[in-house]
Order: sequence, then C-alpha cells, then structure tokens
Amino acid sequence: MHRDQDIEKIFFTEEQIHKRVRELGIQLSAEYADKNPVLVGVLKGSFVFLSDLIRAMTIHCQVEFVACSSYGAGTETSGQVKLTKDLGTDITGRHVLIVEDILDSGVTISFLKDYIASKNPASVKVCTFLDKPARRIKPFQADYVGYACEDAFVVGYGLDYAERYRNLPYIGVLKPEIYTHA
Ligand code: IMP
Ligand code: MG
Repeated sequence: MHRDQDIEKIFFTEEQIHKRVRELGIQLSAEYADKNPVLVGVLKGSFVFLSDLIRAMTIHCQVEFVACSSYGAGTETSGQVKLTKDLGTDITGRHVLIVEDILDSGVTISFLKDYIASKNPASVKVCTFLDKPARRIKPFQADYVGYACEDAFVVGYGLDYAERYRNLPYIGVLKPEIYTHA
C-alpha cells in the first residue's frame, strides 16, 4: 500500500507549507537576531517542521529536543503529560523557542512551557506549525503560528497516525476507514 492512497483530502499543500515556513524563518531571524536562540523541538512530530524552519533562518541558532508522552496510539489526548526525553543543555539565561507540530488541547504545550520556564531562560516563546484553537482544554496562545487548522485529525509533515504518515510532504486527513482499522 502506498501512503498517499489513504489520504481523503489535502489541507495544506507542499507549496503552501514551504511558503509559510520561509515567512516564519524571515520573521524569526529578525526577532532573534544576535540572540542565538535555542530551538527546542518536541519529538517526534516537530522534526520535519523544525528541519525546514532552521534552514529558513539566517541567524545562528542551537537545536535541542525534548519528548513528551500524552497520546497513545489513538487520536485523543489522555490529559496526562510526562517528559520522556529531557533537554541536553543548560538553558539558563538563553532565549528559548519551543517548536511544535500542532497545538490541539494545549495540554502538552502548557506543561512544556512551564517546565522550560522553570529553568530560568532569558525568554521562552512557542512556534507551532498548526493550531487547532477550537480544541483547547487549556487556554494557550502560541507566539508564532504557521496555519490555523480546522478541527480534524490531520497527518503528514511530521504528524502521525499510529506512527505512520509522518513522511507525507503535505498535510491532510485520512479516509475514515483508516482511522477505524488501524
Ligand atoms: P495537545 O497536548 O492536545 O495540544 O497535543 C499536542 C500533540 O498531540 C501534538 O504535538 C501531536 O503530537 C498530537 N496531535 C494533536 N492533534 C493532532 C493531529 O491532528 N494529528 C496528529 N497528531 C496530533
Ligand atoms: Mg503524535
């Protein structure tokens, strides 16, 4: 089976994604000029966006990763967040930009932002490629957003369903029968 055959509808094409990433790269390069920010990618979903984003940035920056668990194999949050991979560096006094694939309930990012803030960084902001504001359980506003997304479980560009579809170069929704049969 070919990954693309499971897609029902494309929400954001490869071209739309790259256009927006380039814009974010320009904006972040201006706002973090001379700040040598630490970009903290939230594994695994953000790795595709983060790799494009840093190449769209023209300033010096450092890349680190954290991992959290809150989801099982399904599409709903469990409401519980655990840090499963910690930062590999001291961020005291540093400008930190957390990079997420998508904000959904807001539970993961609220937990992470508090955790990062507790390490006394110079600043902590959040950049997410997609935002589903309609789904918030915890009120949360990202500082930088790629695109607002309608309330649907999307895959591609790093986002998975049961660990598949991260390698789609576009973002879309799966055919309904895929969600029920995985
Ligand atoms: P939150 O804690 O509910 O905001 O969930 C954030 C995390 O859930 C994201 O980093 C994703 O890994 C995952 N997630 C939320 N919505 C989707 C979706 O539509 N597709 C794929 N993963 C999602
Ligand atoms: Mg996931």
